[in-house]
Amino acid sequence: MRHVEVVATAPAKVNLCLGVGPVRADGFHPLATVYQAVGLYDEVTVRASTDGSWGIEVEGDERLSVSEVPTDDTNLAMRAGKLLAAHLGIDAGLQITIDKGIPVAGGLAGGSADAAAALVACDAFWGARTPREELLELAAELGSDVPFALVGGTAIGSGRGELVTPAMTRGSYWWVVLESGQGLSTPAVYREFDVMHEGHTVPEPQIPDTLMEALRSGDIEKLGASLSNDLQPAAFRLRPELEQSLFHGLEGSAHGAIVSGSGPSCLFLAEGRPHAEQVAGWLKGYGLGPVSFAPGPVPGARVVP
Ligand code: C5P
Repeated sequence: MRHVEVVATAPAKVNLCLGVGPVRADGFHPLATVYQAVGLYDEVTVRASTDGSWGIEVEGDERLSVSEVPTDDTNLAMRAGKLLAAHLGIDAGLQITIDKGIPVAGGLAGGSADAAAALVACDAFWGARTPREELLELAAELGSDVPFALVGGTAIGSGRGELVTPAMTRGSYWWVVLESGQGLSTPAVYREFDVMHEGHTVPEPQIPDTLMEALRSGDIEKLGASLSNDLQPAAFRLRPELEQSLFHGLEGSAHGAIVSGSGPSCLFLAEGRPHAEQVAGWLKGYGLGPVSFAPGPVPGARVVP
């Protein structure tokens, strides 16, 4: 069936642990990570374009640095649409609109969410019903975090992050996401990681047992104490103020505090929405904000019925 337009959403991700190994020959780093999808969403709408070519526009609050999203061929949602079209042998472009709810270049995989949402939206638009395995392979071609944005929930990531295995976990959590006015480039943070480890042996990354135990039992205090991120020292070198932000969140009763992925967004673990608001209030007392509140885990990219 052909549709007039299809809308899909995809969530932001956080890394509950982010173990980073020695840089590979292809320039990527081996990862051992636990992803969690959290309730901050980008929405992607696809519709037929008047002249059959591809087009893209990006909407959303400038507080999220929306104007930094490229609207050329490098846009990840457009690349996703084109990749799926090539895979399906379809020769017509679509008009894509991205409505951002995820901070841009914040370490929350917003671009990956756009790609995942575009894949499921275009697939539904064309009525293609592409098998899940094929969508996951296309997702991996688009970026290391894109397969997880399709899967959602809580999952283990390996390889360069693109190999995703859902994890059996208990409990649901609230995250206070402290935004930063200015994004950080993921490659720049990985480069800084390499500089910091020059001349040292970097071990193969592992997922901490304590983290998996905390997730299996739903023990929030244990979870907070087991959060880890090997990119955090590199993010601190590029943005020294982040260290103080984490400290203030812990002081403000967060169960855990960590830089999100490659940063610069900071995450604070809370027990429920009122607790999250209490942590945010404490941060605000130090002039830190704005924040978003996000429950986790939530499902991956899906078409809005
Ligand atoms: O896969 P993605 O396009 O999201 O990666 C963006 C950049 O982040 C890569 O070009 C690389 O510099 C860095 N990266 C890395 N190791 C990973 C994932 C990303 O070095 N596992």
